[in-house]
Amino acid sequence: MPHRAKLIYQSGFGNEFATEAHAGALPVGQNSPQRHPLGLYTEQVSGSAFSAPRGLNRRTWMYRIRPSVVHEPYEPFPEETLLRSGPFDEVPTPPNQMRWNPLPFPTVPTDFVEGMVTLGGNGDPAAQDGVGIHIYVANASMTDRYFYNADGEMLILPQQGGLRIATECGILVVDPGKLAVIPRGIKFHVELLDSRARGYICENYGQPFRLPDLGPIGANGLANPRDFLTPVAAFDDAEGDFEVVSKFLGRLWTSHYNHSPLDVVAWHGNYAPYVYDMARFNTINTVSFDHPDPSIFTVLTSPSHVHGTPNVDFAIFPPRWLVAEHTFRPPWFHRNMMNEFMGLIHGEYDAKAEGFLPGGASLHNCMSGHGPDAETFERATSADLKPHSIADTLAFMFETRMAVRPTRYALEEKILQHEYYECWQGLKRHYPGRAS
Ligand SMILES: [Fe+2]
Repeated sequence: MPHRAKLIYQSGFGNEFATEAHAGALPVGQNSPQRHPLGLYTEQVSGSAFSAPRGLNRRTWMYRIRPSVVHEPYEPFPEETLLRSGPFDEVPTPPNQMRWNPLPFPTVPTDFVEGMVTLGGNGDPAAQDGVGIHIYVANASMTDRYFYNADGEMLILPQQGGLRIATECGILVVDPGKLAVIPRGIKFHVELLDSRARGYICENYGQPFRLPDLGPIGANGLANPRDFLTPVAAFDDAEGDFEVVSKFLGRLWTSHYNHSPLDVVAWHGNYAPYVYDMARFNTINTVSFDHPDPSIFTVLTSPSHVHGTPNVDFAIFPPRWLVAEHTFRPPWFHRNMMNEFMGLIHGEYDAKAEGFLPGGASLHNCMSGHGPDAETFERATSADLKPHSIADTLAFMFETRMAVRPTRYALEEKILQHEYYECWQGLKRHYPGRAS
């Protein structure tokens, strides 16, 4: 059993947290004492350049049984998996609208690392720009295996089955409807809380996710900082044979440790994993007319070097009231410079009558037209516009600056809905023509 303090979580976003699972393990008044009073090693993990501006600077001081450097050399991970990484150049990317059925669950024992399947992505982890988009399907907990990702932070969205994620900083429990973010480089171990698990991952090669600015919304609203929960220190004091799998420059590598890599007894800093319950999102929308742009639903954003143009935004479409008057309420037909990968945690999405399933996904890339299907269009244009509650729904979007390039698996496996385009073919002409 891991040693841990009584509190499970600390509240806040990017705070200077401080936590110890053994009294006296956290030095007071300095970061690196000459000799640690409990014989722990001091190690700083930095998630930004040392000289990053104060508001963007992320680092954590860890006090651990052994430093991270104590391990055997990494070797290529021996198993073939469907995890892919940027640059995504396996197959040409067509400009078509794409939609996928939910990934099937594995039939042989498969843990979180083995079960990551990449649907697509953009950019390149070597350039610290872009994203990898994965779906994980697992039916086994990781045993003596641990994982870290040097290529990016991982936003994990369970769609089916809960996860217990033990990290260097402590333990997260994340069920469908919640999200977890594991910063770049932080080691973790995933245990299934149910017999099967499926969910989505946004692997963010770029700048760490942060809360969006609120502008005229004011000081409160959307995702509030106090609802982000970071674990308190918890550690394993275990020796034996432990495997650590690393994702580094697009490939998996494996190494052996003679001790648990989750041996951090105390830590302080602002570079740490967190969970967030998306039911806490304070949804803001029109109370007059028209359909606001989906940026109003942004939970987290990873900026790029282009001002106002994120590397990736994470937006959700949660339960909400629709009250717009004399308005076509679903998203209108549109084409964007930005690129939209969507998934569905549960329920139905209001722009599609059928075919967009929990666990499935869709992709509408740069300038590819999309919008409500023919059935939804007919319904929305003839609806009696009373206030309407969409209660059972949680869809989300990874909106990225660069086009998402699907993997070979995503384009060639049976999960691709080749008939997706047909949902718009019933959109009829309504224009009567100009009278002569
Ligand atoms: Fe869209």
